[in-house]
Amino acid sequence: MVQHSRIDENTDIEVPRYWYNIAPDLPKPLPPPIDPLDADISLINRLRELLPSELIDQEFTFERYIGIPKEVRELYIEIGRPTPLVRAYKLEKSLGTPAKIYYKFEGVLASGSHKLNTAIPQAYYSYREGYSELVTETGAGQWGLALSIAGSLFGVPSTVFMTRSSYISKVKRVELMRKHGATVIPSPSNITRVGRGILEDEPDHPGSLGIAISEAVEWVMEKPESRRYLPGSVMEYVILHQTVIGLEAIEQFRAIGEYPDKIIGCVGGGSNLSGLAYPFYREYVEGRAKLPEIIAVESSLIPKASRGEYRYEHPDAYGALPMIKMYTVGRHYKPPAIKAAGLRFHGLASSLSLLIREGLVRVRAYDPDSVREAAELFYRSEGVLPAPESSHAVLAAIDEALEAKRRGEGITILINLSGHGLYDEDFFRG
Ligand SMILES: Cc1ncc(COP(=O)(O)O)c(C=O)c1O
Repeated sequence: MVQHSRIDENTDIEVPRYWYNIAPDLPKPLPPPIDPLDADISLINRLRELLPSELIDQEFTFERYIGIPKEVRELYIEIGRPTPLVRAYKLEKSLGTPAKIYYKFEGVLASGSHKLNTAIPQAYYSYREGYSELVTETGAGQWGLALSIAGSLFGVPSTVFMTRSSYISKVKRVELMRKHGATVIPSPSNITRVGRGILEDEPDHPGSLGIAISEAVEWVMEKPESRRYLPGSVMEYVILHQTVIGLEAIEQFRAIGEYPDKIIGCVGGGSNLSGLAYPFYREYVEGRAKLPEIIAVESSLIPKASRGEYRYEHPDAYGALPMIKMYTVGRHYKPPAIKAAGLRFHGLASSLSLLIREGLVRVRAYDPDSVREAAELFYRSEGVLPAPESSHAVLAAIDEALEAKRRGEGITILINLSGHGLYDEDFFRG
């Protein structure tokens, strides 16, 4: 029996008019990025050769709120924002738990994941600053697809270096990126120095996000006057853009008179979890609410937060980008070719790493088989297929709900369902 209509949770709310920047509210100052490679070029000048200047400003700003440009906000509405907050009644029932499980469903966005929330502003600023080619890396293709769509909305084509293992297994996303005019290149490739070097030693290298980033950066450095490098995670400004998720969720919970006790998200570079959780952290800092328990879920095969070190490291494999302080397994780590390819990154965003270090975010790691079983249960119960990445968060929510059942606690759990898995044709293949 359906207890409530989903409409309860989707009460009309506005798309936010600003993004929330956590920097001034962090318990300690964010350790600044450092560039050990080239002491002669200032860090900012180095970044200016790669990124649109508006995004560099956003990376380092201490302003708490950044207005969302009108053009970007309008596109947010066109691509599906606000996204629904859905209560997973049938999953709760199949677990027999007294816990309430809600998910913020970013998979309804036009590209199928949360990545479009930052792809649109990144493409917008690049277009406004006159660049004619957007360059990036992608794992599962969610980011590459989002950027290809956003670029084509502004008439700017994308070049996407896609980790080779995913290029082979996620055929649909490659096809969809190309339909949007993107050039998709399996990484390591033979069109960059970095890629050629790797292929010489290992012609079948499966690739990694770290290598793909190095290739993308090298590609931009060849023509900095017309190309910009646009990353899908890790940078603080990416998280800033993703805070639309949490800002909406707060309003949606307010409308139904509920509040989460636990917030759960998977972590690649950390942007979907942070985008959901940081606005709730603001509510806590401003004394309006308790701090929910925030849980970051990673793959046990890329255990940067659970088994990595907290130290300075480059976000890319070859050290072309400035080092940031983060939890990392090291940039030379060779991640196995898991289906949740968006989690195959060796580090975590600096602000999220700091919050983990300070004990404000907990970490959990799961193996691929348990994650796939959780996805199947969610799919059978809810009729919604979560992306392999998001399924890590689903499994953590199931574990929390079962623990609540053991304790007889009616807690409220919120998951970021960062994407759908309909194009992850390899997911259930074992
Ligand atoms: C659906 C989905 N969720 C999560 C992630 C992980 O990235 P982040 O931690 O930045 O959200 C990815 C990355 O590609 C993704 O495609």
